[in-house]
Amino acid sequence: MRLFHQIAELRTYLHSLRQEEKSVGFVPTMGALHEGHLSLFRRAKADCDIAVASIFVNPTQFGPNEDFQSYPRTLQQDLQLATTVGLDAVFAPDVEEMYPAGFQTKVEVEHLSRPLEGIHRPGHFAGVATVVTKLLNIVQPDRAYFGQKDYQQAVIIERMVRDLNIPTEVVVLPTVREPDGLALSSRNAYLSPEERQKATVLFRALLLAQQALCGGERNAEKIRKEMEAFLGLEPSAWVDYVAIVNPETLESVKTIGEQDTVLVALAVRIGTTRLIDNMLLTAQ
Ligand code: PAJ
Repeated sequence: MRLFHQIAELRTYLHSLRQEEKSVGFVPTMGALHEGHLSLFRRAKADCDIAVASIFVNPTQFGPNEDFQSYPRTLQQDLQLATTVGLDAVFAPDVEEMYPAGFQTKVEVEHLSRPLEGIHRPGHFAGVATVVTKLLNIVQPDRAYFGQKDYQQAVIIERMVRDLNIPTEVVVLPTVREPDGLALSSRNAYLSPEERQKATVLFRALLLAQQALCGGERNAEKIRKEMEAFLGLEPSAWVDYVAIVNPETLESVKTIGEQDTVLVALAVRIGTTRLIDNMLLTAQ
C-alpha cells in the first residue's frame, strides 16, 4: 500500500493509473479507523480497480469549542488496517498542505446544511463540503463512498456533487453497529466503560420509534416526544435534538403517510461525548 502526504505525488500516482484506464474508488475519512470505515474501504475495493482513502482531521469542520485538538489520531494503526483490507493508497496530508497561507474559499450547501446538525454545529457543513470538494478534485475518483451514519453529511455531499457537476458517483452505505446496536464512531473512544453501556440509549430510542411506527402511530410529534421521554430516563444523557424529517429535504414531518419513508435522527451527549445516530423508517 502506498502512503502519500503531498498532493502532487498522489496526483502523479493516480495519473499513471488513469492512463491504464483503471477505475478509482475513494473513501474520505478523519482516521481512527473502525469497521464502519473498513466496510466502505471493502466496497470501494470490490467496485473499483484502485481503492484510495484519505486520512485528514479537517480543522475547518470543528467549532471553536469542539474536539479538533483531542480528536483521536492513530495513523500507524490506521495504515495497518487499511493494508489488511487491500487498500491501494492512503492520502494523509498535513493542515498546511490542504490549507496553505492565503486559503479563502468556502463551499456551502445552503438549505440542507441548516437543520439538525446545522443548528448545533454552525459552520460544520461548510467545512465538510469545502474539504470534500478539495479531496474530490485532488483524487478525481469514479466513485466516492460515505456512511449513512452521517446521514445529513451524505445528502449534502450528494447535492453538492450534483450542483457543482463533480464527475464522481456518490455511494452511501449502511451504518455498521456493535452487537448491542451502538453505531461505530471514532468518538466512541472517548466513552468510559460505564458511558459505553449507556450509549446504547441512542439505538434503543430509534428502536422505540420503529416500534411506534409498526404499532400504527402516524403522528411524528408523538413519536418524537416518546423518544425524548425515553432518553430523559437516562440521567447521563443530554439530548441535543430528536427529529423526524423527510429524508430528501430534511424538513420536519408532521404526519407519516402509509407509503412514506422518514429519517429519524438524534444527537445526544453521553457525559461530554456527543454522539449522533439515525434510522430510515417506513410505515407499514
Ligand atoms: P469520519 O467520521 O472519519 O467518517 C468517514 C466516513 O465513514 C463517513 O462517510 C462516515 O459516514 C463513515 N462512517 C463513520 N462511521 C460509520 C459507521 N458506523 N458505519 C458506516 N459508515 C461510517 O465523516 C467524516 O469523517 C468527515 O466529515 C469527512 C467526510 C472525511 C470530511 O472531513
